[in-house]
Amino acid sequence: MSINKIIEEDVRDIYLEIGGTLKVIEGSSFLISGGVGFIGSYFMDLLKFCNDNIFMESVTAICVDNFVTGVPERIGHIRHNENFMFLNADISKPIEIDYDIDYIINAASIASPSYYRKYPIETLETNVLGLKNLIELGMKKNIKSFLNLSSSEIYGDPDESHIPTVEDYNGNVSCTGPRACYDESKRLGETMVVNYYKEYKVPIKSARPFNVYGPGLMLNDKRVIPDFFNDAIHKRKIQILSDGTPTRSFCYISDAVKGFMLVLLSEFDGEAFNIGNDRTEISMKGLAELIAGIVGNVAIEYKKSKEKDYLTDNPQRRCPDLSKAKSYLNYYPKVELEAGLGRLYHWYKQESNI
Ligand SMILES: NC(=O)c1ccc[n+]([C@@H]2O[C@H](COP(=O)([O-])OP(=O)(O)OC[C@H]3O[C@@H](n4cnc5c(N)ncnc54)[C@H](O)[C@@H]3O)[C@@H](O)[C@H]2O)c1
Repeated sequence: MSINKIIEEDVRDIYLEIGGTLKVIEGSSFLISGGVGFIGSYFMDLLKFCNDNIFMESVTAICVDNFVTGVPERIGHIRHNENFMFLNADISKPIEIDYDIDYIINAASIASPSYYRKYPIETLETNVLGLKNLIELGMKKNIKSFLNLSSSEIYGDPDESHIPTVEDYNGNVSCTGPRACYDESKRLGETMVVNYYKEYKVPIKSARPFNVYGPGLMLNDKRVIPDFFNDAIHKRKIQILSDGTPTRSFCYISDAVKGFMLVLLSEFDGEAFNIGNDRTEISMKGLAELIAGIVGNVAIEYKKSKEKDYLTDNPQRRCPDLSKAKSYLNYYPKVELEAGLGRLYHWYKQESNI
């Protein structure tokens, strides 16, 4: 089994953009939690690409995933590679690893709202206990750097005056609503990042992803882009489950992974960075129209979700202020929304044999 060509182009693109920064990881060892998930598997692919094409001394990686949402087929082409090891384990339970670890990337969580509303306790435990276990493992291993994937959801539903949203905005978040299991545990995760750095000088940083999309986001993921494609590809009307006005700023996966690696390999311990795209804010109505245009011959309809809490505490607007990432990390996303959605459509067609 070989890597999908679209994903291979994406990881090559990441390498071409930040290859100079990646030199430092040659020959080192990684632990990637959630490495079977949408974002985590791109890290695995990037490391394999560097081993196959660039590095003289290979990187090794241990992927820790309990497959709660991850799809094993996604990393089928890596599973038997000698530099990659797969551990079926739950990070919310203490983890023992016998190998050296230089870098940890925590990409494990239950990230899709429909799933975290269904598994709130597992979500809390993964985002809090799981992160704590990985930090303590990292301390034992004397790691060089740790990247925690937090979320733009830590901002909750910002008022208009805080859009685009900067990192020092404190957020407008319910601590008891149906999204709180995710939002509040991500917030506590960031509090741990800051305090483990302050108390123990753990070289740890947080990235706050803003609505990442791309190949690997499965059609049944229940986030909005795969939902719309799922309807369109199967020639059903695209169902908008709101009044169509809420916005999101979608960031293509190669831009996001580029940003995450820049955060991981930076010296900004204890800090948090917005990672996303500040040029792609679009309403759900606009997104549905765009996807209908890409797939062709698809109508749009407004429906009410069968999930009663689908819209409770749903943020009205989401757009990152990227000034901090631009000035400290030289991070500039480049993939426009229509181009990124086109790549994803191409991948869906290949994967579903349409
Ligand atoms: N994709 C986005 O737009 C986005 C936006 C904001 C934040 N994030 C964050 O980025 C990270 C990766 O997101 P994603 O989109 O790849 O999600 P995903 O659901 O595709 O992948 C998460 C992976 O973590 C695994 N996992 C969950 N709980 C676990 C546990 N207790 N132990 C071990 N493995 C576990 C799942 O099986 C899955 O493979 C998550 O922390 C998520 O909260 C993602």
